[in-house]
Amino acid sequence: MKTIMIHEMPNHIGETVRIGAWLANKRSSGKIAFLQLRDGSGFVQGVVVKEVVGEDVFAKAKAIHQESSLYITAEVTVDERSSFGVELQVKDVEVIKEAVDYPITPKEHGTEFLMDHRHLWLRSRKQHAIMKVRDEIIRATYEFFHTNGFVKIDPPILTGSSPEGTSELFHTKYFDEDAYLSQSGQLYMEAAAMALGKVFSFGPTFRAEKSKTRRHLIEFWMIEPEMAFVEHAESLEVQEQFVAHLVQSVLKNCPLELERLGRDISKLEKIKAPFPRITYDEAIKFLHEEGFDDIVWGDDFGAPHETAIAEKYDMPVFITHYPIGIKPFYMQPHPERDDVVLCADLIAPEGYGEIIGGSERIYDYELMKQRINEHNLDESAYEWYLDLSKYGAVPHSGFGLGLERTVAWISGAEHVRESIPFPRLLNRLYP
Ligand code: 4AD
Ligand code: MG
Repeated sequence: MKTIMIHEMPNHIGETVRIGAWLANKRSSGKIAFLQLRDGSGFVQGVVVKEVVGEDVFAKAKAIHQESSLYITAEVTVDERSSFGVELQVKDVEVIKEAVDYPITPKEHGTEFLMDHRHLWLRSRKQHAIMKVRDEIIRATYEFFHTNGFVKIDPPILTGSSPEGTSELFHTKYFDEDAYLSQSGQLYMEAAAMALGKVFSFGPTFRAEKSKTRRHLIEFWMIEPEMAFVEHAESLEVQEQFVAHLVQSVLKNCPLELERLGRDISKLEKIKAPFPRITYDEAIKFLHEEGFDDIVWGDDFGAPHETAIAEKYDMPVFITHYPIGIKPFYMQPHPERDDVVLCADLIAPEGYGEIIGGSERIYDYELMKQRINEHNLDESAYEWYLDLSKYGAVPHSGFGLGLERTVAWISGAEHVRESIPFPRLLNRLYP
């Protein structure tokens, strides 16, 4: 007999098959038991009828505890109401290991309890669906960049430089030297773009941020494309096409997951390029009109500001041309203004905040050197980086998309802690 997985069952209607599964939940009466089974690839209902399987198997099925591991032998039948359109008519049940007193029951649990049991919480339907959406976004990312002629490059994780400022660095020893965990691979990606033209990275990044919000993780994954001979405006076009591709891929390939998550897909269906653009100046003016008196030109936006701006649109929105004083050293100044830079943040709809930060990069050697010094960075750690503007420098642009914020937005998860398998948060390194 064939051992198959739940997602393959539509191809086995009418056959008797065997699956390895866990018991997610169970309902039973005197004559019939309904086993909610999961095997990682999906969920399916197994129907155990006492008259069919006999007293012994029925008694065994009724006694199984939640999350026990099983082999189930059953006939696959059609059930239009279920997710894969199938149901199992159980013939035999073999218990591999009983799970007694599984801590996560179908009743409601508090967040801290669930976070303490993240290693088990991942098994639940909602978390399973979010991980599938995350996987689809990862797949679609490689698809997008490889289709568009980008080369995947892996920047180092242990570094001596800090592209995004020094206040949030994870410090570590590197034998006798000081090192940091990478907060962004950007500077290395710039070097790679000068070698390979269009490149992208996809890896973990670390920020010792003291922020405890629904958008901040200490360890998160970032996708960082970098493009030689590409200026600010063209970079925004790549960004909107990339993000639209992610959303459309999830809609196409994760319909069951989005349904299980209760995601309003009509909101996602609208996400197509181009996205609206407003300047920082316009955003400040708009916020003042909306009654935000707490912000003045030169300040960075907080979550309430970003949300208010995002609410004007049913698309992600680019905020462009931020003041030079609140952005990193490497951003190219505006050609006609010395107070703003050629950059943009992409703000997701529905309050999910900034999902992309990007800019055109300085490629003038003297200016780059000056900016490194103005930011009080140790020039010796950036000597290699200065070489890029010394030897055949060209206009170039790049950006970084935060994977977890994007997963949270597309799947509708309230908090980024649910969009990564094992979140690292302020005060949480367990499990
Ligand atoms: O805006 P950021 O800091 O930009 C950079 O790091 C650039 N060097 C990227 C580049 O141009 N190559 O971070 C980029 C994105 C943010 O828009 C956000 O989506 C995500 O990374 N991000 C975080 N996600 C979760 N938790 C945090 N603490 C995050 N910090 C940034
Ligand atoms: Mg940013």
